[in-house]
Parts: sequence; structure tokens; C-alpha cells
Amino acid sequence: MAKAAIMGFGTVGGGVYDIIDASREKVSLNAGEPIDVKYILDIRDFPNHPRKELFTKDFSDILNDPEVTVVAEVMGGLHPAYEFTKSLLENGKSVVTSNKELVATYGTELLAIAREKNVNYFFEASVGGGIPVIRPIHQCLTANNILKIAGILNGTTNYILNEMITKGKAFADALADAQKLGYAERNPAADIEGHDACRKIAILASLASRNFVDYNDIPTEGITEITLDDVNCAAKLGAVIKLIGYARFLEDGKVFSIVAPMLIDKSDPLSGVDGVMNAVMITGDSVGDVMFYGAGAGKLPTASAVVADMIDAVKHCERSKKIFWEKPEKNITASGDDVKFSYFIRTGDSADNIKAAFEDCRFTESAVTGESAFITEPLTAAEIEDRLEKLSSVISKIRVFN
Ligand code: NDP
Ligand code: HSE
Repeated sequence: MAKAAIMGFGTVGGGVYDIIDASREKVSLNAGEPIDVKYILDIRDFPNHPRKELFTKDFSDILNDPEVTVVAEVMGGLHPAYEFTKSLLENGKSVVTSNKELVATYGTELLAIAREKNVNYFFEASVGGGIPVIRPIHQCLTANNILKIAGILNGTTNYILNEMITKGKAFADALADAQKLGYAERNPAADIEGHDACRKIAILASLASRNFVDYNDIPTEGITEITLDDVNCAAKLGAVIKLIGYARFLEDGKVFSIVAPMLIDKSDPLSGVDGVMNAVMITGDSVGDVMFYGAGAGKLPTASAVVADMIDAVKHCERSKKIFWEKPEKNITASGDDVKFSYFIRTGDSADNIKAAFEDCRFTESAVTGESAFITEPLTAAEIEDRLEKLSSVISKIRVFN
């Protein structure tokens, strides 16, 4: 019997315990032996929990127990999650996590320690909640050069946008609901300002390129500037607005990444990904496009991925699976200066003014009286700023997904 510990008994940690408890036989069958939770670490007390004897506030109980071979770190945050994870790996215990902030920041080092100590550091739940996407990139798609990864990587923002569109809910109310449902980060600014999606695309880009992509280098915009008028104008166009994490792998080995709200035509499969659902589209040079879809946040979907990692860690307790990326000698982040997007623009300017600035634009019907809406030809970031300076009132500027 494998002995396990759960660090953090919140939304995800509670789900991990419930799945292991409710699916003992299934877990045992798949792991090759039963998995028994010996400790649950949390700073809070849980006096009414039926197994209250499992709870500890002392990390050293887990670290120093030689019986414990696999630990789920589902506390979140960088510290002390980093120190705890590092000590556990150095002590020869496998760690699995849903903590994308930690993986995106310290993944290079923690994965190297896991390799050196012949244990595993798994992080399937760190991107896309319950969607399998880390293993597909690491295993099933390894015959490909990955050309592009693009996806809806944050459940909270997708849920908020969907509630605004379908129910006309105000932004603040939709966010409060996402928090109640356990989707949002402890500090929801990470969701709505795009930092969470940024860490996730950095993890996917690092994994696909095998080189560390630093999320601090990725230009990131959230959804806080998106208004109901934007959403309604997009609808008039037969499009929706989604927060997209985007990485393009260039021929020179560099990676261009960005996180931003983008206009998506309804004919694109990503446009139908609603609510807390996430989807990741990966383009490989042999396979073409593949898409992974499912619940991107929430207790049981996320815990499903964490428990699967625990099972895999128990199955491979004698062997480190070589999931890793390395810090390249030179930063591989492409500046993106020559990357072009079309833009959806809303403005109070006259058609003549617009035509003078954007010769090749395509006018569209605006949902708001007294303003114009149009889509530009593909332009670099410098080109769009240059053209927009010629207009007197820009209301919105949203990239068009391609
Ligand atoms: P919660 O805040 O619900 O749970 C975290 C738990 O860990 C809380 O009970 C918290 O206690 C406890 N904790 C925090 N610090 C410590 C510490 N130093 N020692 C012991 N216990 C501690 O978070 P979630 O379960 O939502 O998220 C956990 C991780 O999973 C995060 O990294 C998150 O980004 C990630 N994640 C979350 C998803 C979701 O849908 N919720 C989906 C995918 C990933 P207290 O509340 O008292 O601080
Ligand atoms: N806050 C995150 C989200 C949790 O909404 O996607 C899943 O990583």
C-alpha cells in the first residue's frame, strides 16, 4: 500500500481526498496498489472531518515519514509551496501539483531535482484543470515539431464573459459567482488580469520547446477592459470575445507568446468553448490541429487530474519520467515586433477619418448608435499604434484570433 499526503485542504485538496476515498478500488487497480492518505496538511482546523486524525499543521510530519512516497501539493502560492516541494523531492518523495504559479516560476529547478533524485514531479492539473494536456504534449505529440498552441486557459474569465453574454450579468456579479463556485484564484486579479493564463501558456510553451519560457516576458492583457458593448458588437459580427493564451514556435527556435482577449469567429471551434470550460488547440507539423476540451477549473475536475498524477507517481515509483525543460543559454522569447494581428476597432471617428488611417479595413455593423466598428488588415503592434494615432476617439481595440 502506497502512503500519500495532501498539502492544502481547500477546493482542490478536498476533491483529491474525496476521489481517493470514493474510488479506492479503481485507484488501487490503476496504481497497482491501494493509495492511503496518511496526512492532510492545512493551517485551518477541521474538527468535524470524519478522519480528523489525518490532519496536521506540521510539514515535518510528512517530510520525515519514510512511508510517505507521494504528496499532492494543492496549497497554492509560491511560499512555502516551493520550499516544501523542494524538500520533499530532495527527500526522495514524488510530488504532484495543481499550482501553476509554482510550476511556471520554479518548474525548471524542481523538475531537475526530481530527475536527479529519480522521483517524479507531475503537474497535469496546472493547465486546463481536468483536461489532459501536459501528457499529450510530453508523450503523444512528441513526434511533432509543435508550431502553435492557442487556447482558453482560464475558467474564471471564460465563465465571466459567458455570464455577461448570455445573462447580461455585470462583471462584478459574474466574478463573485466564479469565486463562490471555487473557480477563481485566491487573488482573482490573477484571473481577470490574465496572469493565470500567462503562467499556463508559459508552462505549455516550456514543455513543448523543452526550454524555459519565462512568463514575465509574455505580454499579458486581461478582460477588465472588455465591456458589454464590445461583446454585443462582436455578436453582430458573428464572433465572440475570449481570453486567449497563444504561443507560436518560430523557425529560429524562439517562441512568441501573448495573452489577450481576442475576437473569435463563430466558425472557429474555440468560439463554442463556454463557461468554465477550457480548450487547448495544438498544431503539430505532422498531426495538424488537435484540440483538448473540458472543465478548466473546479473541485472534482481538477482533483481528477491530481489523483491521476498520484496514481502515475505510484506506478512509476522506481523511475523518473523525463518530463522537463531547461533554462536556455539565451532567452528564447521572441519580441513579436514583426508578428501581425488584425484588430477589431470601435471608434467615434467618421468613416472618412477611418479610411484615411486604414486603407484596407473592413467596416462592420456596430451595436452602439453613433459609433463605427471595423476590422483592420493584419498589422504589427507598432503599425496599429501608428494608425490609431490618426483617429481621435478609439473606444476599443481587440485582436482578431488567427
Ligand atoms: P484553496 O484556497 O481553496 O485551498 C488551499 C488550501 O491550502 C487552503 O485550505 C489553505 O488554507 C491551505 N494552505 C495555504 N497555505 C498553507 C500552508 N502554508 N500550510 C498549510 N495549508 C495551507 O485553493 P484551491 O484549492 O482553489 O487551489 C489550490 C491550488 O490549485 C492553487 O495553486 C490553484 O491555483 C490551483 N488550481 C485551482 C483550481 C480550482 O479550480 N480551484 C484549478 C486548478 C488549479 P487557508 O484557506 O486557511 O489559507
Ligand atoms: N483560477 C483558475 C481558472 C483555476 O479559473 O482557470 C484553474 O487553474
